[in-house]
Amino acid sequence: MGTKLYIKTYGCQMNEYDSDKTADILKEKKGVELTNDVQEADIILLNTCSIRDKAESKVYSELGRLNKLKEKNPNLKIGVGGCVATQEGSNIKKRAPYVDLIYGPQTLHRVSDLLDIDSQSGIKAIDITFPIEEKFDSLPNPSTSGPSSYVAIMEGCSKYCSFCVVPYTRGDEVSRKPEQIFDEVARLAEQGVTEITFIGQNVNSYKMPYKDRVLRLSDLIEIISHIDGIERIRYTTSHPLDMTDDLIEVYQYVPQLVSQLHLPVQSGSNRILEKMKRNYTIDLFLDAVERIKSYRPDLRVSSDFIVGFPGETDHDFQQTMSLVNEVKFDSSFSFIYSKRPGTPASKLEDNTSQDEKKERLKILQEQLNHYHRQHSRSMVGSIQRCLVTGLAKKSPEQLQARTECNRVINFDLENISFIGKLVDIEVTEALSYSLLGTLHNPRGKN
Ligand code: SAH
Ligand code: F3S
Repeated sequence: MGTKLYIKTYGCQMNEYDSDKTADILKEKKGVELTNDVQEADIILLNTCSIRDKAESKVYSELGRLNKLKEKNPNLKIGVGGCVATQEGSNIKKRAPYVDLIYGPQTLHRVSDLLDIDSQSGIKAIDITFPIEEKFDSLPNPSTSGPSSYVAIMEGCSKYCSFCVVPYTRGDEVSRKPEQIFDEVARLAEQGVTEITFIGQNVNSYKMPYKDRVLRLSDLIEIISHIDGIERIRYTTSHPLDMTDDLIEVYQYVPQLVSQLHLPVQSGSNRILEKMKRNYTIDLFLDAVERIKSYRPDLRVSSDFIVGFPGETDHDFQQTMSLVNEVKFDSSFSFIYSKRPGTPASKLEDNTSQDEKKERLKILQEQLNHYHRQHSRSMVGSIQRCLVTGLAKKSPEQLQARTECNRVINFDLENISFIGKLVDIEVTEALSYSLLGTLHNPRGKN
């Protein structure tokens, strides 16, 4: 029986990507097989996240549970990767001595070597450095499972927003070589991938020399739109400060780029944005949105919000609510500010009670949900171009697809060969978290 690998992933899409790549590397180098059953695993990796909450204590309690499995199977190897690994480093070994290896987001390509180190040998299997370029160079050929795929185009972040741990846990920003990106997209397209999502902490600050010019995100989008089979392009996450003219204009001439933009704003108050070190004003944010809308009147904008940042007054919060009402954001994320060790904001005075913060979050989320539902209802009766992703989760007689604004839509199964294709679907009903529809052009795209 082959070696079985179990990976538990916490946090953002970058972590999901990293976990997939770690699995691919271990398949290639060690011939492991992935399992969903932790009980039968020979290697267990926790790919952790430290963006909010008591991330470290959650990891330690999970490790405590996993240690029980080690008592049954002494050959079991347990590894901790991701952002908590970078933050905690060798502390993990002190608090959980049974952990065999510790690696960071930028050293996952070395996991195979770390697994070879005998924990009894006295050599520490810890590597939480930031060799980002080496990581990109070591990634194996991409493998796919479905018509949609992430492609990392940059790593780390150099924005240092005052509340955020990412620059400390993933390192400063490094862009990936364009050749590698184009090669990866082409290989994915050959395997039938039709939708590419460029990912990174700040994809719109991408900048890399190529031939005789410097490529930005807008160039990457334009270039991959000419690769055969690429029908849809997304990117996430972006920063309002880097919504440059070239990126805004690309909406005019690349039809594969979806009319959906995830642009984290965090707060509607310029005073709070300044304290957050976001380096833009609400006017700049609104201007970018309006300019894209001039090319794409149907643009849907989603965002990330933090309520209860230190010093946020009721007036600041009202400004966030005004912004929400003005932009009518679609499916968005919102969080209560969480104090992160080592960040500048953790030293700011914070007089707002937790109850008050919870109340603000509730008000904000209710309004965000209101607009989400309103957008869903407004789609009923319209024809949407959707990417068929597979069979519906709950009914084998239906197929599942995604609209441009990334809503799940289920429709009657006509032909299994629609999977992976773009089809036109008429929306017939808006449910709370998904849509129902009927096929508009039963022969598929052609
Ligand atoms: N560009 C990044 C954003 C970082 S994390 C990306 O890849 O998405 C995602 C979101 O988490 C942020 O936009 C912010 O809204 C939230 N966040 C980050 N640090 C936080 C903190 N200390 N407390 C609460 N929310 C936080
Ligand atoms: Fe974090 Fe700000 Fe970068 S939210 S990931 S430091 S843009």
